[in-house]
Amino acid sequence: MSYKILKKNSLNPTVMLMDIQAPLIAKKALAGQFIILRIDEFGERIPLTIADSNSEQGIITIIFQIVGYTTQRLSALNEGDSLLDVAGPLGNATPIPENAKRVCIIGGGVGCAIAYPQALSLHKHNITNDVIIGFRNKDLVILEKEFGQACENLIVCTDDGSYGIKGFVTNALESNITSGINYDLIIAIGPVPMMKFVTIIAQKYNIPVIVSLNPIMIDGTGMCGCCRCTVGGVTKYACVDGPDFDGSLVDFDELIQRNNTYKTQEAHSCRLGGALNG
Ligand SMILES: Cc1cc2nc3c(=O)[nH]c(=O)nc-3n(C[C@H](O)[C@H](O)[C@H](O)COP(=O)(O)OP(=O)(O)OC[C@H]3O[C@@H](n4cnc5c(N)ncnc54)[C@H](O)[C@@H]3O)c2cc1C
Ligand code: FES
Repeated sequence: MSYKILKKNSLNPTVMLMDIQAPLIAKKALAGQFIILRIDEFGERIPLTIADSNSEQGIITIIFQIVGYTTQRLSALNEGDSLLDVAGPLGNATPIPENAKRVCIIGGGVGCAIAYPQALSLHKHNITNDVIIGFRNKDLVILEKEFGQACENLIVCTDDGSYGIKGFVTNALESNITSGINYDLIIAIGPVPMMKFVTIIAQKYNIPVIVSLNPIMIDGTGMCGCCRCTVGGVTKYACVDGPDFDGSLVDFDELIQRNNTYKTQEAHSCRLGGALNG
């Protein structure tokens, strides 16, 4: 099987979109699921969400932020190059909320790439969805046009006010709620602290909240134990039990701590990658 890169686009200076030939995965992919890819036989396995898929053309789309060694290497590949292997679709599809009339989707930074298929899916199922996306500044805004076509109301926030509304997504969410909008569900996807604070607001107003967890993953099939998280006081494996969970039950502080485990090694391999890439 050849996982050829058919299209490569920069969405902003550090976020890249790639269309990859993967007909068997495209045939089955559902919103919320992800793949684990390996660039070559020396490469590590990294999980990336299936941002979009086209079963007729046999194509999946990934959108990734260049944060370290493997994403740097991935971004250096070009149209026509192939990946060694792509496993998927992995994880569970985000359940379509039953009886939900209005849903608010919150995306933070590259989390928007993961939130986008959720907006598309709700839109296809005729569920009203408002989208609030947040970025540090104007240069980092991604997928604005795409979200605009997949939701009822889109609010773009930037931390520094260089675009859209100045402030965090949590401010925009709370002001929507206090203005009288009744949400049956909030879906929050982005940096762990963002998901934690969205969950606190959701709990304040008694609104169910789903978050998409991003622990370190290796096999993606529940065997290695790397992605374990505590949800409702019970150990869950994000790759097979998630990646979506009820935010009100998630131990976010433990997740932040576990995600920091390999910071030193990641910084080292990133420096090594820079050196190898000249
Ligand atoms: C289910 C899931 C879906 C994801 N979807 C996306 C996506 O659509 N777009 C996107 O940009 N990112 C996504 N991520 C995060 C992405 O996997 C990491 O950014 C990537 O693995 C970084 O690898 P690196 O070698 O470039 O960076 P490194 O320097 O190795 O790591 C940078 C940071 O990435 C995270 N990370 C590193 N290795 C892994 C790993 N094996 N598994 C999970 N996280 C890791 C850690 O938080 C780490 O601190 C997802 C993660 C999960 C668990
Ligand atoms: S990634 Fe290994 S158990 Fe989930």
